[in-house]
Amino acid sequence: MSRSAHPAGPRHADVLTEGHYSAPAADLNILDEKVWSRTVTRDADGALTVGGIGVARLAEEFGTPAYFLDESDFRARCRAWSEAFGPDADVFYAGKAFLSRAVVRWLQEEGLHLDVCSGGELTTALDAGMPAERIAFHGNNKTVAEIERAVEAGVGRIVLDSFQEIVRVAHIARSHGVRQRVQIRVTVGVEAHTHEFIATAHEDQKFGIALADGQAAEAVRRALGLDSLELIGIHSHIGSQIFDMAGFEVSARRVVQLLAEVRDEHGVELPEIDLGGGLGIAYTSDDDPREPHEIAKALSDIVTRECESAGLRTPRISVEPGRAIVGPTAFTLYEVGTIKPLEGLRTYVSVDGGMSDNIRTALYDAEYSVALVSRTSDAEPMLVRVVGKHCESGDIVVKDAFLPADLAPGDLIAVPATGAYCRSMASNYNHALRPPVVAVRDGEARVIVRRETEEDLLRLDVG
Ligand code: LLP
Repeated sequence: MSRSAHPAGPRHADVLTEGHYSAPAADLNILDEKVWSRTVTRDADGALTVGGIGVARLAEEFGTPAYFLDESDFRARCRAWSEAFGPDADVFYAGKAFLSRAVVRWLQEEGLHLDVCSGGELTTALDAGMPAERIAFHGNNKTVAEIERAVEAGVGRIVLDSFQEIVRVAHIARSHGVRQRVQIRVTVGVEAHTHEFIATAHEDQKFGIALADGQAAEAVRRALGLDSLELIGIHSHIGSQIFDMAGFEVSARRVVQLLAEVRDEHGVELPEIDLGGGLGIAYTSDDDPREPHEIAKALSDIVTRECESAGLRTPRISVEPGRAIVGPTAFTLYEVGTIKPLEGLRTYVSVDGGMSDNIRTALYDAEYSVALVSRTSDAEPMLVRVVGKHCESGDIVVKDAFLPADLAPGDLIAVPATGAYCRSMASNYNHALRPPVVAVRDGEARVIVRRETEEDLLRLDVG
């Protein structure tokens, strides 16, 4: 179907009559720098380029769907975080957001530490040469084999998540003749997501040991009593996609209170606190994330103030941003396929990927933006729902967005801010082949995770 012949979906005017959606705030050809990685721009022909390479070339060379990761932006964000927190703090990148051996090397070069939460992530980190002492090992149900591997490798810290795990790690460390550095993960009674934080029902979750009822103090007592453990601090992680620092404030205050209790009871000042990750990013133009230096200042002010009033030495702070580092650095490139206009409602735009490469919309009702990137267009905006090719009506990539009404099969569209929790949560649903991750930097593009092939699928299927 030619572009001009394509029947347009509901137009701008229809959308307004519908009453639920207003016109898009900005010109659809403008790429909001809040949601796109830093080297993204449009070239003279209107096509999106990243790291100096145009999307047409990227699509031809690497196919679609594919994730394109802006390496210099990733590195710049690592540096911004470590500079913001300074030499008296440690930034642990949360590998669950997206991990590959290239990423591990970039982290090392940029001086970051790494948080892993499975044997697979640990293996990837070690294989790429991350020094074990720079690794923190997390998880609510680490297996004995995983703990053994972490202890043998000499990871810098294991974050203990339960009473049973205190005993388990102590036993394994003892049998390896090691004094393992550990933190205890506490649940501070705050659960924060996006704009608000909830101070109820927080203990009703699988992670961590509750501060309430003296559970965490008891965990500290037990850990301090075990020779094979060196308790270095307390860990707290309060949620995801958080913009409001108030939740961190409560969390830091409660963790410092625990440190003071520990000092009073045991005469020990634990030297570290980890405030976890969860800092929000912009998925759409409506989101206003904080800059690392603002976050660093807010957190260190809170901790310093609370420690002063408790008469404690200020502990070394660590944080674990995943999404805030990798999220904004990548976009997913799709080719437009079937277009289904529903008069008076919206237009369904099908792409060659879907919930297998981005489960977040289906799983969390996450919001994303989308743009036509192979060209610009002066056509009117039309309300679209970008959907995948999977056999499921919940297979939605972008729930509500505007694209130009002359959109046609073969156009390339891109969804920004897909660097975190998209490839790492990708699936083979419908035997989809998980897309590659291509790092782009200074005019060069290279595959860092290759596209799956049908041979890969058949290799696992042993008949
Ligand atoms: N530290 C701990 C202990 C965590 O549990 C997490 C995330 C992080 C750090 C990193 O959080 P971040 O800065 O990336 O928000 N799949 C969900 C997110 C789950 C996050 C789980 N823990 C999503 O796609 O939104």
